Amino acid sequence: MEVFEAIRKRYSCRAYKDKPIEEDKLERVLEAARLAPSARNMQDWRFVVVTDVQVKERLVEAANNQGFVGSAAAVIVACSESDNVMRCGQAVAPIDVAIALEHIALQATAEGLGTCWIGSFYPEPVRAILGIPEGVAIIELMTMGYPADKAGAKKRDTLESIVCREKWAF
Ligand SMILES: Cc1cc2nc3c(=O)[nH]c(=O)nc-3n(C[C@H](O)[C@H](O)[C@H](O)COP(=O)(O)O)c2cc1C
Repeated sequence: MEVFEAIRKRYSCRAYKDKPIEEDKLERVLEAARLAPSARNMQDWRFVVVTDVQVKERLVEAANNQGFVGSAAAVIVACSESDNVMRCGQAVAPIDVAIALEHIALQATAEGLGTCWIGSFYPEPVRAILGIPEGVAIIELMTMGYPADKAGAKKRDTLESIVCREKWAF
C-alpha cells in the first residue's frame, strides 16, 4: 500500500472483530515503530503489547471506560523513560513516542488492521495493572485489531487555513 493511501485510509477504529492479529502482521507493525526517527536517535521508547483478555478488560476502566478498548485484539501501551528536552524547549518523549505510534497506525492500516489512539486514560492504574515502574512515563495507548466498523468522513480544516508560505500569515 502506498504511504498516502495508508494515510487516507487510517481512521480511529472504535469497534473490533473478535479475531487475533497474526504474529507476522504484528511483528511488521512493531517493526514500523522500531524504524521510526527519534531525537538524537535515542529510541527511548518502550511498548507493552497487551492481548490477554482479562488484562485488556482492566485497561478499559483505566481508559475512562472506553469499552472498545477491551474488544481490540491488542492494546499497545507506549512508554518512555526520557526526560530529555530539546534545545527548542520541547520534551522529547511525547514527540518520539507519537511518531513511532503513528508509524504503527499506518503500517497497521496497510495490514488491513484498525487502530485508535487513546489519550483518555489514567496512567496510574495502567502502571499498576502492567507493573510499569515509577519514572517511566506512560505516554499513550493504542488499540489495534480487525475493524468491525467503517471509516466516517474525514473532518479536517482546509490546507489554506493551516498552511502559509514564507511568513506567518494567519
Ligand atoms: C493524541 C490522541 C489522543 C486520542 N485519544 C482518543 C481517545 O482516548 N479515545 C478515542 O476514542 N479517540 C481518541 N483519539 C482519536 C481522535 O478523536 C481522532 O484521531 C480524531 O477525531 C480524528 O479522527 P480520525 O482519527 O478518524 O481521522 C485520539 C487521537 C489522538 C491523536
